[in-house]
Amino acid sequence: MKAKILALLRERGNYVSGQELCEKFGVSRTAVWKAVGQLKKEGYRIEAVQNRGYRLIQEKELYGQHELESRMHTRWAGHPVIFYDRLDSTNLQAKLDAEKGAGQGTLIVADMQSAGRGRRGRSWVSPPGTNIYFTLILKPQIPPDKASMLTPVMGLAVAEGIRETCGLETMIKWPNDIVVHGKKVCGMLAEMSVERDFIHYVVIGVGINTGRQTFPEDISATAACLEEECKAPIPRAELTANVMKAFEKHYERFVEDGDLSGLKELYNRYLVNRNREVRVLDPGGEYRGTARGVNELGELLVEREDGTVREVYAGEVSVRGIYGYV
Ligand code: BTN
Repeated sequence: MKAKILALLRERGNYVSGQELCEKFGVSRTAVWKAVGQLKKEGYRIEAVQNRGYRLIQEKELYGQHELESRMHTRWAGHPVIFYDRLDSTNLQAKLDAEKGAGQGTLIVADMQSAGRGRRGRSWVSPPGTNIYFTLILKPQIPPDKASMLTPVMGLAVAEGIRETCGLETMIKWPNDIVVHGKKVCGMLAEMSVERDFIHYVVIGVGINTGRQTFPEDISATAACLEEECKAPIPRAELTANVMKAFEKHYERFVEDGDLSGLKELYNRYLVNRNREVRVLDPGGEYRGTARGVNELGELLVEREDGTVREVYAGEVSVRGIYGYV
Protein backbone atom coordinates (compact mmCIF):
# COMPACT_ATOMS: atom_id res chain seq x y z
CA MET A 1 0.00 0.00 0.00
CA LYS A 2 2.93 2.36 0.68
CA ALA A 3 3.92 2.26 -2.97
CA LYS A 4 0.32 2.93 -4.04
CA ILE A 5 0.03 5.93 -1.73
CA LEU A 6 3.34 7.22 -3.04
CA ALA A 7 2.23 6.79 -6.66
CA LEU A 8 -1.05 8.63 -6.05
CA LEU A 9 0.58 11.53 -4.18
CA ARG A 10 3.17 11.87 -6.95
CA GLU A 11 0.55 11.77 -9.69
CA ARG A 12 -1.62 14.44 -8.02
CA GLY A 13 1.24 16.75 -7.09
CA ASN A 14 -1.22 18.28 -4.63
CA TYR A 15 -3.05 17.46 -1.41
CA VAL A 16 -4.94 14.18 -1.25
CA SER A 17 -7.32 13.85 1.67
CA GLY A 18 -6.90 11.08 4.21
CA GLN A 19 -10.51 10.11 3.50
CA GLU A 20 -9.83 9.59 -0.21
CA LEU A 21 -6.77 7.45 0.54
CA CYS A 22 -8.80 5.31 2.99
CA GLU A 23 -11.58 4.78 0.47
CA LYS A 24 -9.25 4.10 -2.45
CA PHE A 25 -7.21 1.47 -0.66
CA GLY A 26 -9.95 0.14 1.62
CA VAL A 27 -8.03 0.76 4.83
CA SER A 28 -8.49 2.77 8.03
CA ARG A 29 -7.23 6.31 8.66
CA THR A 30 -4.74 4.91 11.15
CA ALA A 31 -3.36 2.56 8.49
CA VAL A 32 -2.90 5.48 6.07
CA TRP A 33 -1.26 7.57 8.78
CA LYS A 34 1.10 4.69 9.64
CA ALA A 35 2.04 4.10 5.98
CA VAL A 36 2.76 7.81 5.49
CA GLY A 37 4.87 7.76 8.67
CA GLN A 38 6.93 4.85 7.32
CA LEU A 39 7.45 6.60 3.99
CA LYS A 40 8.68 9.67 5.86
CA LYS A 41 11.12 7.49 7.78
CA GLU A 42 12.47 6.24 4.45
CA GLY A 43 13.25 9.84 3.54
CA TYR A 44 10.17 11.04 1.63
CA ARG A 45 9.03 14.53 2.55
CA ILE A 46 5.27 14.34 2.95
CA GLU A 47 3.36 17.30 4.32
CA ALA A 48 0.19 16.67 6.34
CA VAL A 49 -2.23 19.58 6.69
CA GLN A 50 -5.50 19.44 8.58
CA ASN A 51 -8.62 19.53 6.38
CA ARG A 52 -6.51 19.23 3.23
CA GLY A 53 -4.65 15.94 3.56
CA TYR A 54 -1.23 14.75 2.46
CA ARG A 55 1.10 16.21 -0.15
CA LEU A 56 4.38 14.82 -1.47
CA ILE A 57 7.11 17.40 -1.67
CA GLN A 58 9.09 16.20 -4.65
CA GLU A 59 12.79 16.03 -4.23
CA LYS A 60 15.47 13.94 -5.82
CA GLU A 61 14.42 10.36 -6.31
CA LEU A 62 14.90 7.84 -3.51
CA TYR A 63 15.97 4.57 -5.06
CA GLY A 64 14.46 1.60 -3.26
CA GLN A 65 11.57 -0.83 -2.92
CA HIS A 66 8.71 1.68 -2.74
CA GLU A 67 10.10 4.05 -5.35
CA LEU A 68 10.40 1.17 -7.81
CA GLU A 69 7.01 -0.34 -6.98
CA SER A 70 5.25 3.00 -7.19
CA ARG A 71 6.64 3.70 -10.66
CA MET A 72 5.95 0.31 -12.24
CA HIS A 73 3.16 0.77 -14.80
CA THR A 74 3.17 -2.68 -16.35
CA ARG A 75 0.88 -5.67 -16.17
CA TRP A 76 3.50 -8.32 -15.40
CA ALA A 77 7.05 -7.21 -16.18
CA GLY A 78 8.51 -5.95 -12.91
CA HIS A 79 5.86 -7.61 -10.72
CA PRO A 80 6.90 -8.26 -8.11
CA VAL A 81 9.97 -6.10 -7.90
CA ILE A 82 12.35 -7.09 -5.09
CA PHE A 83 14.96 -4.55 -4.06
CA TYR A 84 18.17 -5.32 -2.18
CA ASP A 85 20.71 -2.84 -0.87
CA ARG A 86 23.41 -5.35 -1.70
CA LEU A 87 23.69 -8.69 -3.48
CA ASP A 88 26.51 -10.80 -4.85
CA SER A 89 24.80 -10.73 -8.26
CA THR A 90 21.19 -10.08 -9.28
CA ASN A 91 21.53 -12.89 -11.83
CA LEU A 92 22.53 -15.37 -9.12
CA GLN A 93 19.65 -14.26 -6.88
CA ALA A 94 17.19 -14.41 -9.79
CA LYS A 95 18.26 -17.96 -10.62
CA LEU A 96 17.82 -19.05 -6.99
CA ASP A 97 14.38 -17.43 -6.91
CA ALA A 98 13.37 -18.93 -10.27
CA GLU A 99 14.38 -22.40 -9.01
CA LYS A 100 12.18 -21.83 -5.97
CA GLY A 101 9.20 -20.93 -8.14
CA ALA A 102 9.36 -17.14 -8.65
CA GLY A 103 7.15 -16.36 -11.62
CA GLN A 104 7.55 -14.65 -14.98
CA GLY A 105 8.06 -10.92 -14.53
CA THR A 106 9.78 -11.06 -11.14
CA LEU A 107 12.45 -8.36 -11.10
CA ILE A 108 15.47 -8.52 -8.81
CA VAL A 109 17.15 -5.14 -8.28
CA ALA A 110 20.24 -4.28 -6.24
CA ASP A 111 21.88 -1.00 -5.35
CA MET A 112 25.27 -2.72 -5.45
CA GLN A 113 26.75 -6.09 -6.36
CA SER A 114 29.81 -7.63 -4.74
CA ALA A 115 30.26 -10.20 -7.53
CA GLY A 116 28.58 -8.67 -10.59
CA ARG A 117 29.04 -10.87 -13.64
CA GLY A 118 29.69 -9.81 -17.20
CA ARG A 119 29.77 -11.72 -20.46
CA ARG A 120 32.54 -14.20 -21.29
CA GLY A 121 33.36 -14.81 -17.62
CA ARG A 122 34.31 -11.18 -16.98
CA SER A 123 33.23 -9.31 -13.87
CA TRP A 124 30.91 -6.28 -13.87
CA VAL A 125 32.10 -3.61 -11.47
CA SER A 126 29.02 -2.65 -9.44
CA PRO A 127 29.56 0.16 -6.91
CA PRO A 128 26.67 1.39 -4.70
CA GLY A 129 24.52 4.50 -5.09
CA THR A 130 25.26 5.12 -8.72
CA ASN A 131 24.14 2.52 -11.29
CA ILE A 132 21.29 0.21 -12.18
CA TYR A 133 21.67 -3.55 -11.74
CA PHE A 134 18.61 -5.71 -12.29
CA THR A 135 17.61 -9.16 -13.50
CA LEU A 136 14.25 -10.12 -14.94
CA ILE A 137 12.91 -13.66 -14.59
CA LEU A 138 11.10 -15.11 -17.61
CA LYS A 139 9.39 -18.45 -18.08
CA PRO A 140 8.73 -18.39 -21.81
CA GLN A 141 6.93 -21.23 -23.51
CA ILE A 142 9.18 -21.25 -26.54
CA PRO A 143 11.69 -23.77 -27.88
CA PRO A 144 15.11 -23.39 -26.19
CA ASP A 145 16.81 -22.52 -29.49
CA LYS A 146 14.76 -19.31 -29.61
CA ALA A 147 15.82 -18.09 -26.18
CA SER A 148 18.85 -16.22 -27.52
CA MET A 149 16.41 -13.80 -29.19
CA LEU A 150 15.26 -12.55 -25.81
CA THR A 151 18.37 -10.43 -25.26
CA PRO A 152 17.84 -8.32 -28.39
CA VAL A 153 14.28 -7.78 -27.12
CA MET A 154 15.73 -6.47 -23.85
CA GLY A 155 18.25 -4.44 -25.87
CA LEU A 156 15.41 -2.66 -27.63
CA ALA A 157 13.65 -2.06 -24.32
CA VAL A 158 16.73 -0.52 -22.69
CA ALA A 159 17.46 1.64 -25.73
CA GLU A 160 13.89 2.96 -25.65
CA GLY A 161 13.76 3.28 -21.86
CA ILE A 162 16.88 5.47 -21.84
CA ARG A 163 15.58 7.60 -24.71
CA GLU A 164 12.28 8.15 -22.93
CA THR A 165 13.83 8.91 -19.54
CA CYS A 166 16.92 10.88 -20.50
CA GLY A 167 16.23 12.01 -24.06
CA LEU A 168 19.56 10.56 -25.23
CA GLU A 169 20.13 9.10 -28.69
CA THR A 170 20.76 5.50 -27.69
CA MET A 171 21.98 2.96 -30.21
CA ILE A 172 22.49 -0.80 -30.03
CA LYS A 173 25.86 -2.35 -30.75
CA TRP A 174 25.06 -5.86 -31.92
CA PRO A 175 23.99 -8.02 -30.24
CA ASN A 176 22.96 -6.09 -27.13
CA ASP A 177 25.35 -3.47 -25.81
CA ILE A 178 23.67 -0.08 -25.53
CA VAL A 179 25.83 2.80 -26.68
CA VAL A 180 25.53 6.57 -26.42
CA HIS A 181 27.87 8.76 -28.48
CA GLY A 182 29.83 5.63 -29.43
CA LYS A 183 30.46 4.43 -25.87
CA LYS A 184 28.93 1.56 -23.94
CA VAL A 185 26.47 2.55 -21.20
CA CYS A 186 24.79 -0.81 -20.65
CA GLY A 187 25.53 -4.52 -20.86
CA MET A 188 23.34 -7.61 -20.57
CA LEU A 189 23.85 -11.16 -19.46
CA ALA A 190 21.17 -13.79 -20.13
CA GLU A 191 21.32 -17.23 -18.55
CA MET A 192 18.86 -20.09 -18.74
CA SER A 193 17.92 -23.44 -17.35
CA VAL A 194 16.76 -25.96 -19.93
CA GLU A 195 15.71 -29.60 -19.91
CA ARG A 196 15.65 -31.25 -23.30
CA ASP A 197 13.13 -29.14 -25.24
CA PHE A 198 11.71 -27.30 -22.25
CA ILE A 199 12.85 -23.97 -20.77
CA HIS A 200 12.59 -23.86 -16.97
CA TYR A 201 13.51 -20.19 -16.90
CA VAL A 202 15.55 -17.48 -18.53
CA VAL A 203 17.05 -14.63 -16.52
CA ILE A 204 18.19 -11.44 -18.23
CA GLY A 205 20.56 -9.30 -16.20
CA VAL A 206 21.03 -5.66 -17.13
CA GLY A 207 23.67 -3.25 -15.88
CA ILE A 208 23.26 0.43 -16.80
CA ASN A 209 25.93 2.99 -15.97
CA THR A 210 23.91 5.92 -14.73
CA GLY A 211 25.97 8.04 -12.32
CA ARG A 212 29.41 9.61 -12.75
CA GLN A 213 32.19 7.19 -11.89
CA THR A 214 35.75 6.24 -12.67
CA PHE A 215 35.80 3.13 -14.83
CA PRO A 216 38.47 0.43 -14.54
CA GLU A 217 41.37 1.13 -16.89
CA ASP A 218 40.64 -1.69 -19.34
CA ILE A 219 37.20 -0.28 -20.21
CA SER A 220 37.72 3.45 -19.60
CA ALA A 221 38.13 4.18 -23.32
CA THR A 222 34.88 2.47 -24.32
CA ALA A 223 32.55 2.95 -21.30
CA ALA A 224 30.37 5.95 -20.48
CA CYS A 225 27.66 6.88 -18.01
CA LEU A 226 24.30 8.48 -18.73
CA GLU A 227 24.69 11.35 -16.27
CA GLU A 228 27.78 12.61 -18.03
CA GLU A 229 26.21 12.22 -21.45
CA CYS A 230 23.00 14.06 -20.61
CA LYS A 231 24.44 16.43 -17.97
CA ALA A 232 21.70 15.69 -15.46
CA PRO A 233 21.12 13.19 -12.63
CA ILE A 234 19.37 10.02 -13.77
CA PRO A 235 16.21 8.86 -11.97
CA ARG A 236 17.08 5.18 -11.60
CA ALA A 237 13.65 3.88 -10.58
CA GLU A 238 11.88 5.77 -13.37
CA LEU A 239 14.38 4.46 -15.91
CA THR A 240 13.99 0.87 -14.65
CA ALA A 241 10.20 1.18 -14.87
CA ASN A 242 10.38 2.62 -18.40
CA VAL A 243 12.58 -0.30 -19.48
CA MET A 244 10.01 -2.74 -18.05
CA LYS A 245 7.19 -1.00 -19.90
CA ALA A 246 9.03 -1.22 -23.22
CA PHE A 247 10.12 -4.80 -22.55
CA GLU A 248 6.58 -5.98 -21.82
CA LYS A 249 5.35 -4.57 -25.13
CA HIS A 250 8.19 -5.96 -27.26
CA TYR A 251 8.24 -9.34 -25.50
CA GLU A 252 4.57 -9.88 -26.25
CA ARG A 253 5.17 -9.11 -29.91
CA PHE A 254 8.12 -11.53 -29.95
CA VAL A 255 6.06 -14.34 -28.41
CA GLU A 256 3.18 -13.69 -30.80
CA ASP A 257 5.44 -13.82 -33.87
CA GLY A 258 7.63 -16.65 -32.59
CA ASP A 259 10.75 -14.73 -33.68
CA LEU A 260 12.03 -11.21 -34.23
CA SER A 261 10.25 -10.65 -37.55
CA GLY A 262 7.97 -7.97 -36.07
CA LEU A 263 10.81 -6.22 -34.20
CA LYS A 264 13.78 -6.46 -36.53
CA GLU A 265 13.00 -3.27 -38.42
CA LEU A 266 12.89 -1.29 -35.20
CA TYR A 267 16.01 -3.05 -33.92
CA ASN A 268 17.85 -2.27 -37.15
CA ARG A 269 16.98 1.41 -36.81
CA TYR A 270 18.80 1.41 -33.48
CA LEU A 271 21.72 -0.65 -34.76
CA VAL A 272 24.89 1.43 -34.59
CA ASN A 273 26.76 -1.04 -36.81
CA ARG A 274 24.28 -0.81 -39.65
CA ASN A 275 25.94 -0.16 -43.00
CA ARG A 276 29.28 0.18 -41.25
CA GLU A 277 32.37 -1.86 -41.84
CA VAL A 278 32.91 -4.39 -39.07
CA ARG A 279 35.51 -6.92 -38.00
CA VAL A 280 33.94 -10.23 -37.08
CA LEU A 281 36.01 -11.91 -34.39
CA ASP A 282 35.14 -15.49 -35.28
CA PRO A 283 37.06 -18.24 -33.44
CA GLY A 284 37.46 -19.89 -36.85
CA GLY A 285 39.16 -16.78 -38.28
CA GLU A 286 38.60 -13.04 -38.23
CA TYR A 287 37.04 -11.43 -41.29
CA ARG A 288 35.67 -8.06 -42.40
CA GLY A 289 32.48 -6.98 -44.05
CA THR A 290 29.63 -4.49 -43.94
CA ALA A 291 26.89 -5.03 -41.35
CA ARG A 292 23.47 -4.88 -43.02
CA GLY A 293 21.18 -5.43 -40.01
CA VAL A 294 19.75 -8.46 -38.24
CA ASN A 295 17.41 -11.11 -39.62
CA GLU A 296 14.33 -12.49 -37.86
CA LEU A 297 16.55 -14.75 -35.74
CA GLY A 298 18.67 -11.86 -34.48
CA GLU A 299 21.70 -12.95 -36.53
CA LEU A 300 23.83 -10.15 -37.93
CA LEU A 301 23.96 -10.09 -41.72
CA VAL A 302 27.49 -9.27 -42.78
CA GLU A 303 28.13 -8.62 -46.47
CA ARG A 304 31.59 -9.63 -47.64
CA GLU A 305 33.52 -7.91 -50.38
CA ASP A 306 32.60 -10.65 -52.86
CA GLY A 307 28.90 -9.90 -52.28
CA THR A 308 28.15 -13.01 -50.21
CA VAL A 309 26.26 -12.48 -46.97
CA ARG A 310 27.13 -14.31 -43.76
CA GLU A 311 24.64 -14.79 -40.94
CA VAL A 312 26.56 -14.24 -37.73
CA TYR A 313 25.24 -15.88 -34.57
CA ALA A 314 25.90 -13.93 -31.36
CA GLY A 315 26.92 -16.90 -29.23
CA GLU A 316 30.10 -17.55 -31.21
CA VAL A 317 31.60 -14.22 -32.08
CA SER A 318 31.89 -10.56 -31.27
CA VAL A 319 31.95 -7.67 -33.68
CA ARG A 320 34.06 -4.54 -33.63
CA GLY A 321 34.18 -1.44 -35.76
CA ILE A 322 37.17 -1.07 -38.01
CA TYR A 323 38.55 1.81 -35.96
CA GLY A 324 37.51 0.74 -32.48
CA TYR A 325 34.63 -0.39 -30.33
CA VAL A 326 31.83 0.61 -32.73
C1 BTN B 1 28.42 -7.44 -20.21
O1 BTN B 1 29.50 -7.97 -19.97
O2 BTN B 1 28.29 -6.57 -21.08
C2 BTN B 1 27.20 -7.87 -19.44
C3 BTN B 1 27.08 -7.20 -18.12
C4 BTN B 1 25.85 -7.57 -17.36
C5 BTN B 1 25.82 -6.94 -15.97
C6 BTN B 1 24.52 -7.13 -15.28
S1 BTN B 1 24.41 -6.13 -13.82
C7 BTN B 1 22.96 -6.97 -13.35
C8 BTN B 1 23.15 -8.43 -13.68
N1 BTN B 1 23.80 -9.12 -12.60
C9 BTN B 1 25.02 -9.55 -12.93
O3 BTN B 1 25.79 -10.15 -12.16
N2 BTN B 1 25.28 -9.21 -14.20
C10 BTN B 1 24.17 -8.53 -14.82
